[in-house]
Amino acid sequence: MNIADIEGLKFPDEMLTRFFFKNGLHTRRGRVIELGCGNGSNLMLFAAYGWETVGIDYDSALIEAGRRNFAKAGHTGWTLTVGDLNQQQEVEGPFDVFLLPSIIYYFTVEQARAIIQRFAPHAAQSLFYCRFRTPLDYRFGRGEALGPQSFRITATETGEQGCTISFYETHQMLDLMSPFKLRQDSIKVFYEMFDNLQNDRLIRNQDGIIWADNL
Ligand SMILES: C[S@@+](CC[C@H](N)C(=O)[O-])C[C@H]1O[C@@H](n2cnc3c(N)ncnc32)[C@H](O)[C@@H]1O
Repeated sequence: MNIADIEGLKFPDEMLTRFFFKNGLHTRRGRVIELGCGNGSNLMLFAAYGWETVGIDYDSALIEAGRRNFAKAGHTGWTLTVGDLNQQQEVEGPFDVFLLPSIIYYFTVEQARAIIQRFAPHAAQSLFYCRFRTPLDYRFGRGEALGPQSFRITATETGEQGCTISFYETHQMLDLMSPFKLRQDSIKVFYEMFDNLQNDRLIRNQDGIIWADNL
C-alpha cells in the first residue's frame, strides 16, 4: 500500500517498531491488542506480518479511517472497535502482545488502575509495551490539579486543553501494571526526550517506555 494512501498517522511509534523487530515479532504470528489505537497505525505493522489485531478507541473518525486503511491494505483478521476504555469493553483474549502506547496517561490514576484490572485477565502470557509521560514532561502542572500526579490541562498549545493527563515515575507505572504480573527480569525501561512542534511552539516531551513480559 502506498504511504500516501494511508489516512491519518502513517507510521507506527518508533519505539514500538523497535519493540516489534527486537522481540522477533516479524518471525512469528499471534494476537495483539492495542488500547487507544487511533487509526491503527501501530497495529498496521503487526497486520503486515500476519498478526491478528484488535484495537479500541473512542474516536469514531479515527477508527473509521483505520478500517479504511486496513481494508485498502488488504489485511485480514483485524477488529477495530469504537469504545470508551472507561467503560466495560467486550474483548476475547488471550493476547500474545498487549500494547499501551501513549494512552494510559489520559486517565486519572484510579481510572487507569480500573482499566488495567479489567484487561489483565486477557494477558496471561503476553509481551507488553507501554509509553507513558513522566513528570519532566512540559505538560506537568499546566492545569487544575486532580491529584499529585494528574491535571486537567488548561494550556492550549498542545491541543490537549480539557484533557486529563497523569504523569508517572517509572516505579509508579510498574506498580500500576502489577496486575499483569510482569516478570521482573524481563522489564526494560527506556526514556525518550524529544521536542515536538505544536502550534508554532517547541514542546518538550519526556516519555518513559516499558517493554516486559509475563511469559
Ligand atoms: C496520543 S493518541 C495515541 C494513539 C496510538 N496509541 C499511538 O501510539 O499512536 C491517544 C489515543 O487515545 C484515544 N483515547 C483517549 N481517551 C480514550 C478513552 N477514554 N477511550 C478510548 N480511547 C481513548 C484517543 O482517541 C487517541 O486516539
